[in-house]
Amino acid sequence: MKAITIPEFGGPDALVLADLETPVARAGEVLVRVAAAGVNRADTMQRQGLYPPPKGESEVPGLEVSGVIEALGEGVDGWSVGDEVCALLSGGGYAELVAVPAGQVLPVPDGVSLVDAAALPEVVCTVWSNVFLTANLQPGETLLVHGGSSGIGTMATQLARQVGAHVAVTAGSPEKLAACRELGAEVLVNYREEDFVERLRDATEGRGADVILDNMGAKYLQRNVAALATAGRLVIIGMQGGTKGELDIAALLAKRGAVIATSLRSRPAAEKAAIVAAVREHVWPLVSAGRVRPVVHSRRPLAEAADAHREMESSSHIGKILLTVD
Ligand SMILES: NC(=O)c1ccc[n+]([C@@H]2O[C@H](COP(=O)([O-])OP(=O)(O)OC[C@H]3O[C@@H](n4cnc5c(N)ncnc54)[C@H](OP(=O)(O)O)[C@@H]3O)[C@@H](O)[C@H]2O)c1
Repeated sequence: MKAITIPEFGGPDALVLADLETPVARAGEVLVRVAAAGVNRADTMQRQGLYPPPKGESEVPGLEVSGVIEALGEGVDGWSVGDEVCALLSGGGYAELVAVPAGQVLPVPDGVSLVDAAALPEVVCTVWSNVFLTANLQPGETLLVHGGSSGIGTMATQLARQVGAHVAVTAGSPEKLAACRELGAEVLVNYREEDFVERLRDATEGRGADVILDNMGAKYLQRNVAALATAGRLVIIGMQGGTKGELDIAALLAKRGAVIATSLRSRPAAEKAAIVAAVREHVWPLVSAGRVRPVVHSRRPLAEAADAHREMESSSHIGKILLTVD
């Protein structure tokens, strides 16, 4: 099968289309013929040698796909050959075929095309597990999402609004902020021109954000703690602003705040399956009803994976970038 390989770590041109052996569905797995793969920041880090796949997983990048089930491994119930699905992966998505544990597979929701369904698994599972299962965002609370126009941000905003929470976002341009507003964000902060701590205080009568979903890490640590409300929860999922920061414990303690950092990819299959099951129960009905939608910025053929990475690294996109497979 054709797949994207990384013979040597480097810039976008390190991604090389090659012929690889076709994977097989082992016990408990399904083999998916890929229609599209979602591109994630993590893939760009993997390409540079900064984010290796978990032990035993495919070296091919790609954390989510949509497609059609081609074969079933031993002991798989509930799925049939020919089913249209999307799936959360630990790797291997930039390929014509990928094998995935059956517990990480979801049906394509009503009203979403087979290709665009590839935009859902990674962002929905990341947002649901962090904002709702971990940080326990409640109706009436305020969520601050950094990188509001990112794949993750566009989903976090929509889901938080659906549960009746208020949403504030940061983004780097008026155009991106306008897109965030259309998705339901109420407080729009251009981080290039404004201080998000001050804006959050003003917008919440001094309370701050109950939950912060952060992609920046070190660079925002102190200001994130300053922006938290009493009993607020800061969930760090990205390190775009570095890995080592200083934490003022007195400030955190005074707020009875929590700082949590998580990674979806490194979780064991059983935990991923539990998240996928929760997503199917709580989020899929919202997507099927058209109340939450995948925001797709661009669709390119798999052979143009390098251009897709260039696009992501230029941060010119709003929402998800997809690679399609014929
Ligand atoms: N831990 C996990 O399990 C997990 C899972 C999935 C994703 N993630 C992380 O979540 C983040 C988003 O992922 P993605 O795939 O959705 O990536 P993406 O679409 O490329 O989004 C990255 C965003 O970062 C924004 N950004 C850059 N500098 C910023 C700043 N100073 N302040 C605020 N925003 C800034 C960019 O927008 P601007 O142009 O507005 O700056 C862009 O929208 C990444 O850091 C990724 O690694 C973590």
